[in-house]
Amino acid sequence: MGKSYRIAVIPGDGTGPEVIREGLKVLKAVSTANGFQCQLQEYDLGGERYLRTKEVLPDSVLKELRQVDAIYLGAVGHPDVPPGILERGLLLKLRFDLEQYINLRPVKLYPGVETPLKDKKPEDIDFVVVRENNEGLYVGEGSFEKKGTKEEVALQVSRNTRKGVERCIRYAFAYTRARRKHNKLTFCGKTNVLTYAHDLWQRVFQEVAAEYKDIQTDYAHVDACCMWMVKNPEWFDVIVTDNMFGDIITDLGAMIQGGMGIATGGNINPQGVSMFEPIGGSAPKYTGRNVINPLAAICAGSMMLQHLGERQAAARIERAVMAVTPKLKSLAAGRMGYSTSEVGDLVVKHL
Ligand code: IPM
Ligand code: MN
Repeated sequence: MGKSYRIAVIPGDGTGPEVIREGLKVLKAVSTANGFQCQLQEYDLGGERYLRTKEVLPDSVLKELRQVDAIYLGAVGHPDVPPGILERGLLLKLRFDLEQYINLRPVKLYPGVETPLKDKKPEDIDFVVVRENNEGLYVGEGSFEKKGTKEEVALQVSRNTRKGVERCIRYAFAYTRARRKHNKLTFCGKTNVLTYAHDLWQRVFQEVAAEYKDIQTDYAHVDACCMWMVKNPEWFDVIVTDNMFGDIITDLGAMIQGGMGIATGGNINPQGVSMFEPIGGSAPKYTGRNVINPLAAICAGSMMLQHLGERQAAARIERAVMAVTPKLKSLAAGRMGYSTSEVGDLVVKHL
């Protein structure tokens, strides 16, 4: 008998439950075919729960989540909940408290998928962003001075610790080596302006690079990085960057790989509990209509299996997704030519 994995499922808000349903459909099919088991435990967290009970992430739930092998998350964000409550209280809290210090976001153009980049093909768009996930501007430190007056000053701290930066950069180098693609790692920063934060990043990057002589290193300021992602995406293999820049460039990355319908991310604690999610939001406009694209959630499931060590099953899902993308009219919600559940069925058929 194969292994058994304890997986916490958080369908969350909006279209989260619809895409997670398809992801679980694929996960069940592949686990049967490949002979392992997933013990699923579903958690009712998100906007509806908050509006009902004022609870965002009870300590008892967090304690349970620390015990599982992985977390599979749909989406967080609800139109009736003020911005920040669920994002900070649920998504960022999980990333921080579970020390998921890497946000791994592949940018890969699958066959038959339309990219807004003229003349770029799947072989040109295939890189991975390693986003620091526990520090930087996301720590929520800051203050107001003279709030509400004409002299008001708002401070927002970017915290970068030697330890936090180093573990992220080390992960990126090791990942680049293991990926065996072009053995190239680009640090994306803004060393000319962020003369403290990215001075530290650059020093650590150079230090660790000395231990990875087989990896070619490169540097791009974040603004230029955006430019190259559009103009010459084939130059990138792996990009390592801080939390805020990583947030921004991965939305750009999602667009060049065909949109939010296909963009996936893993929040990784290499020694602990990791969490996998489609990176598009809860899409309230499309909720409950069976029109949202579930492929990003399905690919998040594949990333989760890869992380758990079920490499063949993970590759099997990715191959099936690559067989399905050419059949869809578009990857955009409502324009796929198939419903959400039909796309899930198609992936299962091609496993
Ligand atoms: C993401 C999202 C989150 C982030 C938000 C919802 C807090 O945009 O996962 O990229 O900024 O990290
Ligand atoms: Mn984002």
